[in-house]
Amino acid sequence: MSRRLLVTSALPYANGPLHIGHLLEYIQCDIWVRYQRLAGNQCQWVWADDAHGTPIMLRAEAEGTTPEALIERVKTEHEQDIAGFLLSPDNFHTTHSEENREISADIYERLKAAGHIVTRTISQLYDEERDMFLPDRYVKGGCPSCGTPDQYGDNCEHCSATYDATDLIDPISQVSGSKPVSRDSEQYFFALGNFTDMLKEWTRSGTLQPEIANKLSEWLDDGLQDWDISRNAPYFGFEIPGTTDKYFYVWLDAPIGYMASHRHLAERTGEDWAASWQPGSDVELYHFIGKDIANFHGLFWPAMLHGAGFRTPNGVFCHGFLTVDNKKMSKSRGTSITVNTWLQHIDAEPLRYYFAAKLNSSVVDLNLNLEDFVTRVNSDLVGKVVNIASRCAGFITKRFDGRLAKTWPEAQRADYEHLIGARHVIMDYYEKREFGKAMREIMVLAEHANTWINDAEPWVLAKDPERADEVQQICTVGLNYFRVIVTYLAPVLPEIAAKTEAFLNTRLSLDDLETPLTDHAIERYKPMMTRIEPAQIEKVLEATRESQPAPAAPAAASAADVEPLAEEITIEDFQKIDLRVAKIVAAEPVEGADKLVELTLDIGSETRTVFAGIKAAYAPADLVGRQTVMVANLKPRKMRFGLSSGMVLAVGPGGSDLFILSPDDGARPGMRVK
Ligand code: 2FM
Ligand code: ZN
Repeated sequence: MSRRLLVTSALPYANGPLHIGHLLEYIQCDIWVRYQRLAGNQCQWVWADDAHGTPIMLRAEAEGTTPEALIERVKTEHEQDIAGFLLSPDNFHTTHSEENREISADIYERLKAAGHIVTRTISQLYDEERDMFLPDRYVKGGCPSCGTPDQYGDNCEHCSATYDATDLIDPISQVSGSKPVSRDSEQYFFALGNFTDMLKEWTRSGTLQPEIANKLSEWLDDGLQDWDISRNAPYFGFEIPGTTDKYFYVWLDAPIGYMASHRHLAERTGEDWAASWQPGSDVELYHFIGKDIANFHGLFWPAMLHGAGFRTPNGVFCHGFLTVDNKKMSKSRGTSITVNTWLQHIDAEPLRYYFAAKLNSSVVDLNLNLEDFVTRVNSDLVGKVVNIASRCAGFITKRFDGRLAKTWPEAQRADYEHLIGARHVIMDYYEKREFGKAMREIMVLAEHANTWINDAEPWVLAKDPERADEVQQICTVGLNYFRVIVTYLAPVLPEIAAKTEAFLNTRLSLDDLETPLTDHAIERYKPMMTRIEPAQIEKVLEATRESQPAPAAPAAASAADVEPLAEEITIEDFQKIDLRVAKIVAAEPVEGADKLVELTLDIGSETRTVFAGIKAAYAPADLVGRQTVMVANLKPRKMRFGLSSGMVLAVGPGGSDLFILSPDDGARPGMRVK
């Protein structure tokens, strides 16, 4: 009987693009899910965008749009990235859905009825200018422990102390720059402590990796605190039933989004989704997540499920973080690479393979070494795997009318048995998420196949018409080896697997490997993968750097943070700068550059094209028709997207907080600004 599995990956926030750090998890999850399906199990992957919370609310406001419109736009972008990277979720939903609203309310009511919800009045920092309570990440001040200035409201980066935001010295709201006040309000808490015994058992029952279980046992031993699951209005989320100005904290309804996505999927499949969430269900439930959110999935979530009368997960699989060339991803160094930027220059499968080759079941960080990436992909996938097919296919097509040999050579029987026998160990590695080990086994087989073809030298035999049968036999064996190897790689390389199915005119399945393909017509071979050139990597890095705005100044800079003044200039120097009123006659997004807008500017005497890094602050369409000020005599600069002839002036800390200068009403295009 095949197993039934329900798998999830973490839900990305719906306020920005996916980057390759996200991909590490999604690719790991996708490989596992595809492996399960290849192994004949019923495996569903339910997924969604995480659409609630203060950052999304503020981001929408900064963009001059509604949170609903923002999350819808971002969802479409995420879906494009998902398709581009060949990820195969059964459903990609959003946490801002009716299903999630209902299930979240239901779970809350159940927890409340069982006595697990308590209310308490607490004091929090309040921004009177913006009329909102400030989440810890939106307030900075001096560390109450060591005095270091400019620390966030929850912990100090200098001395690692954790504290309440209300204890910060001279706090400053990061939303308005004003000084917040303390204000009391009633909040709703989930009594996590009620689940201590249950969690002690669950976290030690093989559901977690040992290092994660150890980490969480520190929390368990320290005594679990009540967890604040409410937020005051204004907030983008679900109102707590029975209240008018309280919302569920985003982390309450985010994991419930897994259930909601499953329920949404069931509308299409007709399955009894709720049965999978009942205690005792034989459906196995697994979550793929990053180590930074282990407490949510290893403590809060199982406690919520259990407390509300639902089943708990069978496993939570944590992974480490991605570094690029051994550095944390950084925008300015060009290593915070978005999925979209990657796909403009490099296909998905090479990265899928590279991650697979380095992934294991532990929580350690994974490094993407860009040079090693190029070498390894070219050597393994192009040199060892695809090479098998390209060396054998031509002979079969040209000399044997596209037909494989009638019979399998007896001398190759044992070798073939060995090849297909390897599937047990390889599938076992996949099951245990030891993908690196699986890839190594497969590459040993690919090397073996190449050596065998080298030794058999069909290209030499082909010169002798009397040995045509042998050539057909050798190439038939080679292509069967290829079939087996690509079947093993199918969870990692779904596109190559699909191309191989078309080429070999057969479906790839583990069971069918028992019988090699003989006396069988194949299609003409088309190249399946080409070498990666280092220049492609360069382009990715360049595009990443270019799409970053100038480093943003902190929202509320203290005197010490202000950049020192530049060298003094004379009035003559200043007069060299030709500032002109420019009318924006067209504004277009720039493909491949997340931050740039291509502006067409009318300066009276002529029109200019200028690339401006202001997309986070302005939707291109909103710029058309406006007047602004430009430096008209700046030497044109060649950018990857075209020539930029001039510069538009703007003020602000950067990112979405940027305002282009607007001259007053009497200005006309071309007028000099002095
Ligand atoms: O850390 C994050 O990016 C969260 N959006 C993950 C949520 S996972 C689940 F709980 F919804
Ligand atoms: Zn400190």
